[in-house]
Amino acid sequence: MTNHQPQISLDRPETVIAKQDAMTSLQLRQIQKNYGAYHALRGIDLAVEQGEFIVMVGPSGCGKSTLLKTIAGLETITSGQILINGRDVSHTEPGERGIAMVFQSYALYPHMTVAENMGFGLRMAHRPKAEIDAAVMRAAKILRITDQLDKRPKQLSGGQRQRVAIGRAITRSPEVFLFDEPLSNLDAALRTQMRVELSSLHAKLGATMVYVTHDQVEAMTMASRIVVFNHGSIEQVGSPLELYRNPANLFVAGFLGAPRMNFFEVMVDSISGRTATVSTAGLMPLAVELADSASVQKGDKLTMGIRPENLSAVSDPAKATFAGQVRLVEHLGRETILYVDAGQLQCVSSESGTGNVTVQIGHVTSVAAEAAIGLRIDSRDVYLFSSGDGRTISARKSILAD
Ligand SMILES: Nc1ncnc2c1ncn2[C@@H]1O[C@H](COP(=O)(O)OP(=O)(O)OP(=O)(O)O)[C@@H](O)[C@H]1O
Ligand SMILES: [Mg+2]
Repeated sequence: MTNHQPQISLDRPETVIAKQDAMTSLQLRQIQKNYGAYHALRGIDLAVEQGEFIVMVGPSGCGKSTLLKTIAGLETITSGQILINGRDVSHTEPGERGIAMVFQSYALYPHMTVAENMGFGLRMAHRPKAEIDAAVMRAAKILRITDQLDKRPKQLSGGQRQRVAIGRAITRSPEVFLFDEPLSNLDAALRTQMRVELSSLHAKLGATMVYVTHDQVEAMTMASRIVVFNHGSIEQVGSPLELYRNPANLFVAGFLGAPRMNFFEVMVDSISGRTATVSTAGLMPLAVELADSASVQKGDKLTMGIRPENLSAVSDPAKATFAGQVRLVEHLGRETILYVDAGQLQCVSSESGTGNVTVQIGHVTSVAAEAAIGLRIDSRDVYLFSSGDGRTISARKSILAD
């Protein structure tokens, strides 16, 4: 039976840009940004549909804030095009773009009350007082800060200040909301609360949101799609589970997931059909299904990836894929993280930086440091990456774990 389905992956930026219909809320076309000789954005293409919650992640300095600022009009682009609801705003003044941006630093005016801060954008736009008051009250109700309206920012907690900053964005009824790490100044409990509130705010307003964060949990839980950035370029775009289960390359695989995926250098022992058997010193051979596009030969060196939660401790040494000695145990209550010294089987760019293998056990365990341990890998959980360009060459995995 032949498969006539075109091999299109919706998480590839080049297919995303093709989706240009009336529902496209924000369209970025080949955005380039240079700061002098420094090339901060290297041809960003992205189409965001009306009502989507896009979360951008990437290492520090990769260009996330720069991109948000160019969308907001706070930075000019060197070349490319920005469209909001089909309107070219590439060179439009920030106030005319129909966007509102919320910063990590809140950026509230200290001498104004909460109500004045929230109504500021509308006052600048010379809207009538009754309209401003109504918009402020509506936003304050949504954010549950109606009793704080006469206070000044310094009389508020961090979480309340952040709500005011979000409220200031809401009153302007923007077509697109931009958030740059809005929760990173808050403590863990407040972050969780605000995360839930932002998700319900998004559901209530149905607005298009673009949100930058360093927080894996925020990215995985809030996003309709995640955009992974690196060095001013997009590495991959897709739903959280799609990116987690089917990272396009080694960078995305290593970036999403905490603790990080374990990576090992392996060699191809043999190929049979679309299955490659790989091994290395200290590791029993694993037969891994290859992607249709993969071109792999016996003797090739590859990088193998396995997530910490896909390693299981086995008591029968005959069932172990590799063995080692526990160096450190972290009891997190609901789960336990083990760092295992697997001798010759060294982890490259491991979580701990020591070459130890990270193992995540979904329960409390009595395993103690210095214990000998056997670990089993199910070859269906294994990822293979080309050692040249880092592209994923193992077969796609179903989004739901087997
Ligand atoms: N005004 C500027 N002039 C020169 N270089 C700049 C300017 N603003 C940003 N850059 C550089 O552009 C790159 C991207 O910066 P950006 O602030 O967008 O990173 P980021 O992804 O938001 O990082 P972080 O996660 O740390 O906030 C950095 O290398 C930064 O040094
Ligand atoms: Mg930033």
